[in-house]
Amino acid sequence: MKIGNQHYRSIWFDEQSQHVKIIDQRWLPHQFKIVTLNNRDAFIAAIGDMWVRGAPLIGATAAYAFYVQMKKDPSHQSLDQTYDLLLATRPTAVNLRWALDKMRALLTRLSENQRPQAALALAQEICEQDVERNRLIGVHGLGLIKKIATTKSPGERVNILTHCNAGWLATVDWGTATSPIYHAAQENIHVHIYVDETRPRNQGAHLTAFELAQQNIDHQLIVDNAGGHLMQHGDIDLVITGTDRTTGSGDVCNKIGTYLKALAARDNDIPFYVALPSTTIDWALSNGIAQIPIEERDSLEVTKIWGKLDNGTVAQVQICPDNTPVANPAFDVTPARLVTGLITERGICEASKLGLAKLFPEFVTN
Ligand code: MRU
Repeated sequence: MKIGNQHYRSIWFDEQSQHVKIIDQRWLPHQFKIVTLNNRDAFIAAIGDMWVRGAPLIGATAAYAFYVQMKKDPSHQSLDQTYDLLLATRPTAVNLRWALDKMRALLTRLSENQRPQAALALAQEICEQDVERNRLIGVHGLGLIKKIATTKSPGERVNILTHCNAGWLATVDWGTATSPIYHAAQENIHVHIYVDETRPRNQGAHLTAFELAQQNIDHQLIVDNAGGHLMQHGDIDLVITGTDRTTGSGDVCNKIGTYLKALAARDNDIPFYVALPSTTIDWALSNGIAQIPIEERDSLEVTKIWGKLDNGTVAQVQICPDNTPVANPAFDVTPARLVTGLITERGICEASKLGLAKLFPEFVTN
């Protein structure tokens, strides 16, 4: 998608320098920084410290880490170590393990001198496939928005609430939850997006609001607690979020706070959809609350917030008393029964084993 008039992806291989580059998302929206990741430690830091984040992008970044490491040391030991080190960076988003499994399965079969080029080719393929999957999510999700638009008077907008950043910055391009929105805008449907700020790290305020503004999409930033009120007053037609891991039974794990939005949506009869590429489905799991590991992140994310001071400096300030004890679970699970449907690259299905089996029969066992 575009920043200014230039098209960017969130990660790319720069042919000229032969380096992997990313947008360092820690500084958005105030500063735009492109960073080169040229050794394994940099990749580990980039994922763990969230220079890049979002389930599909975490997977794509991990894939490129193999290319960089295989150039340095293509041995079997280095391959296994890279797998283990990257897997430990972030526990919840399953796209990470999906990408690592794919890379290791291919590279193990090859001789050491074939590994660097093969790793690069597969990482690039993973990125291309992610872009295409997300584009298709947009094509399928567009139907939902179009249907709501037909119930509106001429000029009336379709109001969509989203949580966290499930936009192009969380994927390689298009985004998951935002892809239907971008497709609707391309068809001149007036979409208005309510953007949850998404404490503690404020991915909604920092990233989704930035993205939508760059694509000229009508939006308003709201505090996380405003969603229920807006729903009660008829201000939301549809909720679309992303997910970091969805079970084979349709339970959806996403950024902390998603569950509360789903509860409020159900209470107000508002459709709650989750957009995801199939790489986010953990087919082996059937109970999200019991089985999905929830990342507990640094207490500093809760006690301090980043922002721009009036003098333009980007700074962090503390918002609670010194030494306040903190809990910081980064994700929660929305049970399948609260999810109206899953928007995938193969179409929209019910959030259930049966629903998923209709679209992805090859993954579902009896
Ligand atoms: O902690 P983050 O910023 O990596 O969490 C991101 C989310 O929760 C997104 O909603 C999710 O990854 C879906 S992104 C397409």
